[in-house]
Amino acid sequence: MDLREQIEIVTKRYPNNRSAIMPALFIAQKQYGYLGGDVLQQVADILDVPEIWVFELATFYTMFHTESIGEYHIQVCTNVSCLLRRAENLVGYLENRLKIKAGETTNDGRFSLSSVECLGACDKAPALMVNQDYFENQDEEKLGQLLDQLSSREIGLSGDN
Ligand code: FES
Repeated sequence: MDLREQIEIVTKRYPNNRSAIMPALFIAQKQYGYLGGDVLQQVADILDVPEIWVFELATFYTMFHTESIGEYHIQVCTNVSCLLRRAENLVGYLENRLKIKAGETTNDGRFSLSSVECLGACDKAPALMVNQDYFENQDEEKLGQLLDQLSSREIGLSGDN
């Protein structure tokens, strides 16, 4: 099913096309991997809404990517609860191990690293996400094991097919 067909099906569930922009962006991102300018224009055309409405949402929410992203997107929360429980050490550990800085992707395209605001798991700080899955009460030892499992594909994530 092409992008237009998928978006038109979803749009029927909403009172107007503007309300369907976010689900349309999820569909487009799943199809293309990220939301480049041409994809945003395509979504706007399909929904018959101004491109700026689509652009605003795509650039506001961290779950949308306007640039190419690694196979595994690791998002480490560095907000207050996680910061108090040494989330910065986790970011530093990942930067050393992956040899990238937060905001970058490894050369092989496997891992992207982001430092993000609250993931809504403050009671289990420090928390991080890999793609759509949460990993809570993290420390460097657990994170090292998780990276080993991801590197060797020993662990499945909820978005994997
Ligand atoms: S402060 Fe880290 S999950 Fe809320």
